[in-house]
Amino acid sequence: MTKRPSQSVALARAEHARLGAEIAAHDRRYYQDDAPTVSDADYDALRRRYEALEKAFPELKAAGSLSDTVGAAPSEKFAKVRHAVPMLSLGNIFADEDVEEFCARVRRFLGLSDDMALAMTAEPKIDGLSCTLRYEDGALVRAATRGDGYEGEDVTANVRTIDAIPNHLAGAPSVFEARGEVYMRHADFRALNARQAEAGKPTFANPRNAAAGSLRQLDPRITAGRPLAFFAYAWGEVSEAFAATQFEAIAAMGRFGLPTNPLTRLCRSAAEMLAQYRAVEAQRASLGYDIDGVVYKVDDLALQQRLGFVSRSPRWAVAHKFPAERATTVLEGIEIQVGRTGALTPVARLRPVTVGGVVVANATLHNEDEIARKDVRIGDTVVVQRAGDVIPQVVEVVPDKRPPGAEPYRFPETCPVCGSAALREIDEKTGEADVVRRCTGQLVCAAQAVEGLKHFCSRNAFDIEGLGDKQIELFFKEGLIRTAADIFTLRARDGQGRPPLRDWEGFGETSVKNLFDAIDARRAIAFNRFLFALGIRRIGETNARRFARHFGDWETFRAAARAPDAAAELGAIDGIGPVVAESVADFFAEARNEAALDALLAQVTVEPMEAIAANHPLAGKTIVFTGSLERMSRDEAKAMAERLGAKVSGSISARTDLVVAGPGAGSKLTKARDLGVETIDEEEWLRRSAGA
Ligand code: IVH
Repeated sequence: MTKRPSQSVALARAEHARLGAEIAAHDRRYYQDDAPTVSDADYDALRRRYEALEKAFPELKAAGSLSDTVGAAPSEKFAKVRHAVPMLSLGNIFADEDVEEFCARVRRFLGLSDDMALAMTAEPKIDGLSCTLRYEDGALVRAATRGDGYEGEDVTANVRTIDAIPNHLAGAPSVFEARGEVYMRHADFRALNARQAEAGKPTFANPRNAAAGSLRQLDPRITAGRPLAFFAYAWGEVSEAFAATQFEAIAAMGRFGLPTNPLTRLCRSAAEMLAQYRAVEAQRASLGYDIDGVVYKVDDLALQQRLGFVSRSPRWAVAHKFPAERATTVLEGIEIQVGRTGALTPVARLRPVTVGGVVVANATLHNEDEIARKDVRIGDTVVVQRAGDVIPQVVEVVPDKRPPGAEPYRFPETCPVCGSAALREIDEKTGEADVVRRCTGQLVCAAQAVEGLKHFCSRNAFDIEGLGDKQIELFFKEGLIRTAADIFTLRARDGQGRPPLRDWEGFGETSVKNLFDAIDARRAIAFNRFLFALGIRRIGETNARRFARHFGDWETFRAAARAPDAAAELGAIDGIGPVVAESVADFFAEARNEAALDALLAQVTVEPMEAIAANHPLAGKTIVFTGSLERMSRDEAKAMAERLGAKVSGSISARTDLVVAGPGAGSKLTKARDLGVETIDEEEWLRRSAGA
């Protein structure tokens, strides 16, 4: 179908061989190194082109094809599943003192004194991939991966083939979403790799990759042949309460028929938690499966509920990680990457080395000051550290091994991409230089433009399938896409003044159609995603969500952000600091940004935020807390209001709907009375938040 009539077999053979080598290299990086260098979408495009060639020239297949090997786990082939309850992640701690600090933080939030009991569970942190299993009337109806936490992939057919996961539960609530980790035992992992090697197929670098690769197989028959295991440790949507504590919940899941981890313990103090951490650490090597730490969770589910979440992780749980693994290798070079905001980031190019089972060839050097502080020089032998899924880092230099003549590293003072001056901003308050050196060529720097477009299309922003990093780089280079708005006119402009995309190398009829369709599918987008996609400095997902929740719809927000006193107005929103507010105001004050926005808004529709808990009487209200509260901490009250869909603000204005005033409330209370804003005390607040 992709066959271009003029293409000779010889040309096709050359392209087939080139693509084959490229795909094999990506497979190696993905499955063995756990360090993919292309997005799934890009990988998929390569794979599609490869298969299209084989279809058009069947003789190529005889020469040995990748098409039948393990390889691809292309995410877009699985249907998406929206999680009714998001699958969030955990904060990490590393030091012993952090355990005490975690307990203290929980106590502070709940207003518990030191002598009141606070039980925690300690569970091994399984190093696999998390999965949610939905049971209805006892029968497994859907299984999904975590994905970005809000939307995962439907892997039901594969999960049904896993022996360790029951297809039926006994005695569970009628809707029961069990959550836990799919993993592979060491012995099974070794046997699988031996079979792979024998069959001339790629082997896996570690059990986690093997588990992920096996679960995300397009053909469930392949998954069926893979020895996967499962531990349940959490749950999503459930039709009725089934336990009062975390510990009981795990026991209940065991009774329903789900496998649970036998090393789960109930601890009554930080000292007991640490002791359990040590005990688990001591058994780590003999468990027969990988764990990378211990997870502590507040045992009482009612307290968990009160504690709630900050951003993407629960306040009621934390992962205490085992120490990072280290190795030494040679620093072969330092590459400077230019990011979306112009930040110059040094990346260490390393002689590849295995750190904790994974081959590492790149590591972060953080910034200019860190390079200077550690006196890192090209040619040095360096210590590289890798902790869990974070980017490996260069920790220090081994001084004895420095080669003669190694020169101190000079950090560039101009942008390696556009040549503009790269400067370190001076903080007005402290007078200190920012650690980050930034390219000043904002509107002329190709690196910033390209990175901005990549961000715009990325998974948590516009999420345009088929428009991955590689395609964006190509389209930018060819002048086809220069701004975000250009993406949406791609179909209309196709073929104008240049060959149509389907004739470009690496593209074809189908992939181009899919790309255009994927773009059209994103012409309507949620407010928070849209705002995040713009790539305004300091507006990450959390702040984008805060603005979206506060303003509800895009137009109201834009009007506020353009107002003469925008920085002050935005800075008054709960959770938004002056620096963030300033950054947004600066963006909207720049005429060229406004013009780019108008061009974009001519192409896409920004959807208002769905009101959260819209039926609660406090939903949509703007509330200000002032004075001290006695029954809960200020943080808890805020979190509670937000859960009900209310907006919490730090200052009183005519837009304030309600003021909750405790003892000691001062000028804010006076102002509220002056403005005629309704004022209530803590008792009344508790009554109303309970829905009374
Ligand atoms: S609880 C809302 N418990 O660790 C909290 N997670 O770093 C949900 N994990 O995505 C997670 N063992 O894949 C929890 N006993 C355990 C775990 C565990 C492994 C994984 C899980 C999660 C990740 C967070």
